[in-house]
Amino acid sequence: MCGIVAYIGPREAYPIILKGLKRLEYRGYDSSGVALLNHTGLNVYKKKGKVAELEESLVGKNLHANAGIGHTRWATHGEPSDRNAHPHQSANGKLAMIHNGIIENYAQLKTELQKKGYVFKSDTDTEVLLNFIEDIQKNNHCGLEEAVRIALKRVVGAYVIVLLDQDNPDTLIAARKGSPLVIGVGKGEHFLASDASPIIEYTKEVVYVNDYELAILKPDELILKNLGNEKITPFIQKLDLELAAIEKGGYDHFMLKEIFEQPDTIFDCLRGRLDINNASITMAGVQNNIEQMMHAKRIIMVACGTSWHAGLIAEYVFEELCRIPVEVEYASEFRYRNPVIHQGDVIIAISQSGETADTMVAIERAKEQGAFIFGVVNVVGSSIARISNAGAYTHAGPEIGVASTKAFTAQLAVLTMIALKIAKEKKTISEERYVHLLNELNNIPEKVREVLLLNEQIKKLAIKYKDSKDALYLGRGYNFPVALEGALKLKEISYIHAEGYPAAEMKHGPIALVDDQLPVVFVATKDSYHEKIISNIQEIKARKGKVIAVISQGDDAIPKMADDSMAVPEADELVAPLLSVIPLQLLAYHIGVAKGCDVDKPRNLAKSVTVE
Ligand code: G6P
Repeated sequence: MCGIVAYIGPREAYPIILKGLKRLEYRGYDSSGVALLNHTGLNVYKKKGKVAELEESLVGKNLHANAGIGHTRWATHGEPSDRNAHPHQSANGKLAMIHNGIIENYAQLKTELQKKGYVFKSDTDTEVLLNFIEDIQKNNHCGLEEAVRIALKRVVGAYVIVLLDQDNPDTLIAARKGSPLVIGVGKGEHFLASDASPIIEYTKEVVYVNDYELAILKPDELILKNLGNEKITPFIQKLDLELAAIEKGGYDHFMLKEIFEQPDTIFDCLRGRLDINNASITMAGVQNNIEQMMHAKRIIMVACGTSWHAGLIAEYVFEELCRIPVEVEYASEFRYRNPVIHQGDVIIAISQSGETADTMVAIERAKEQGAFIFGVVNVVGSSIARISNAGAYTHAGPEIGVASTKAFTAQLAVLTMIALKIAKEKKTISEERYVHLLNELNNIPEKVREVLLLNEQIKKLAIKYKDSKDALYLGRGYNFPVALEGALKLKEISYIHAEGYPAAEMKHGPIALVDDQLPVVFVATKDSYHEKIISNIQEIKARKGKVIAVISQGDDAIPKMADDSMAVPEADELVAPLLSVIPLQLLAYHIGVAKGCDVDKPRNLAKSVTVE
């Protein structure tokens, strides 16, 4: 949610910031801006729309500067517009600030400042905080660092802020609470960003800033302090990330690239963990906490969006294999509901970004109440990964497309391995079934490769169905959450209204929607519910609905009933979602493209939702 980039050092700041903003655009893209500081003073440029529009508007301008800050926005306070775009400038024009997060008590601060005569140029909470800092500087006759520290003690909410000060052109000041911030440490230069992607081109040495920390950056000096003004030794880490991983590599869109990466990302996720020869799974996070996990009275999956769907599938897997009751919670509901949490509860927090604010706060609360937190996270070093008691990374690599694809299948692979490992220890699975499932999981990457051969067929289907106004997605058992995920993908990417439902539950409502215009997508691979879902298909056909079915290869019954079928290799029903979801990702992608939508950056969405 909002991307921030900053630079200070001997190079030209603008090209670094612009490139960084393009890399961070997945975080928000309704407006963007830069503030550049050089000997002529502070110059702020802002533009509604994508970063490319900002770039275009700056052609021919003198952008020379060795210090600068940039921002790409996902609006919270105030509509997307030039005036609400960041950076904001303080009333005296000397300070410029970018902000990612929400200042919850901004209204109160604004009233106080208005009484003192401050006039605001934007509707944002950011401008309020900035003028609050300026006001403290004025009243307390203190430097910017001190003023920021005092201000942040009064602020309620989440933030990463970065400030430029016209009077101190060789210093950047940044602070974090609840939103991500990475510092890149170069030779005589420093970089700042919401994630490492704008930084890796220049340096692999990074420092992840923690909550309630303040960073004072000069070209050749990095000082970290807490809000009590005590110095903290920066922990410099080496990034294990290659530039190629965050570029499109010949694909039209990141989303398509990421869908096609899935044979490799699932393989990477299994690699070093699943050992077919020894019929074993190595996962240190589970092994080191095996007593806690196998004796859990209850497992609660906490997540948002696509990650929540992974949690739903995991519910079926864990209950079947481990015989532990599982609840799956939307993080945003769980955190406010005053849930009953017992000492022996295990919370599995699932998150691609590891920064989703609701998930983060939900697990913080549960941890305070004694729950054990296990993180299933993609982004290494992210906030959720760090707050968890233990965890397993999904190793899917950077996911840039806003709609999650490869992170979802990697989450399923990790969650299935965790369940298998617990089940083996608990002896709730037979040796024969355990070995069978290890083999099934091991074969998934190759089977996914086969599913991807459906791409051209699905492209044609997309043309056929692209003008639909609504769509219904139905599945049963392990494939019910896949139906939810398929519907979510279509909504996100193509703006077609879509609903996912348990196929049998369809009779209690959605069936009223069925007519000869409504496409109904069935996730109907061969499993223990197969006969039942065939009956559901017939119920739709009897009402003239159009049926598109994801089926298992060799199924000759469903193609006779369905208008269109997409056949995936057969697999045990417990791992089948890893295959059945892929045609649905491709269908959403191609419909989005056929409709001319910006599939990598769908309107109103953001990849990493760091506000509640
Ligand atoms: C946003 C993204 C989704 C993602 C969800 C949860 O809504 O657009 O793709 O599933 O956040 O994000 P997380 O990073 O916690 O998995």
